[in-house]
Amino acid sequence: MGINADIKTVLITGASRGIGKAIALAFAEAGYKVIATDIEREINVLASLKNEIEHIGKSCLTYSLDVTSKTELDQLVANLRRDRQAVDVLVNNAGILQISTLQDLQESQWNAHFDVNAKGVWLTTQAFAPYMKEQGDKRIINTASLAGRCGVPGQGHYAATKAAVISLTRVAAQELGPDGFTVNAICPGIILTEMGRNNLGSEEMITYWEGRTALRRLGQPEDVAGAVLFFASPMADFITGQSINIDGGIYFH
Ligand SMILES: NC(=O)c1ccc[n+]([C@@H]2O[C@H](COP(=O)([O-])OP(=O)(O)OC[C@H]3O[C@@H](n4cnc5c(N)ncnc54)[C@H](O)[C@@H]3O)[C@@H](O)[C@H]2O)c1
Repeated sequence: MGINADIKTVLITGASRGIGKAIALAFAEAGYKVIATDIEREINVLASLKNEIEHIGKSCLTYSLDVTSKTELDQLVANLRRDRQAVDVLVNNAGILQISTLQDLQESQWNAHFDVNAKGVWLTTQAFAPYMKEQGDKRIINTASLAGRCGVPGQGHYAATKAAVISLTRVAAQELGPDGFTVNAICPGIILTEMGRNNLGSEEMITYWEGRTALRRLGQPEDVAGAVLFFASPMADFITGQSINIDGGIYFH
């Protein structure tokens, strides 16, 4: 193919902060080249992630990418093809959460959540799968949520998008499996990122939820990265279509 595939490469959406950033750093530390992407207003933050990764002697490319834009996705794939830059692993991490009861929810909020969290996963997979099929490890890891498994009051719209991600993971695993792909998902519980803290709203709620976990603590972004690395690794060669809870022991199904 002529694609440069000497070093394994991971592409991560929504990589400027939180879980996406922790995944980027974990893959860099594991020896992967990182392609970190996020929406345009985060491009300066992505530049400091690139510095951080280069500081530990690894390489990082950064691109502006809105996962709701088919045009931007197609352009990025074209740029990577032009630069002969392989993508072994795709991590669909970008997501949004605004709290609202179903009663108070605005139609625009419903649409925005489905656009980023569900359609974004489909569009990104649709854009990248044909390119990844040509070379590399062919691993896709989607970010669902515990909310998508059990539903959470104030998050009906968000939970529905994440249930959609679990379903998309199962279907993509079956459709892309014959071409050598594995497609799996992670379901984080409460992770103390900007999103996680906004979700809980107060220190009292953090303490309450810490007490509800088997491990008596909430997650840090780094707690999530290990499962993503596992799904990308040869140890997970025969695992596909699965969604795994990463929640310190809140939900056991
Ligand atoms: N933090 C939690 O408790 C938690 C729990 C379960 C699932 N998740 C999921 O994990 C993922 C990361 O969450 P986080 O806690 O790091 O959130 P975060 O808000 O800290 O980061 C989300 C990232 O997504 C990016 N993003 C938003 N819209 C985008 C778009 N249209 N295109 C590309 N990027 C976009 C943001 O710029 C940001 O970098 C999300 O999918 C989220 O739903 C988080």
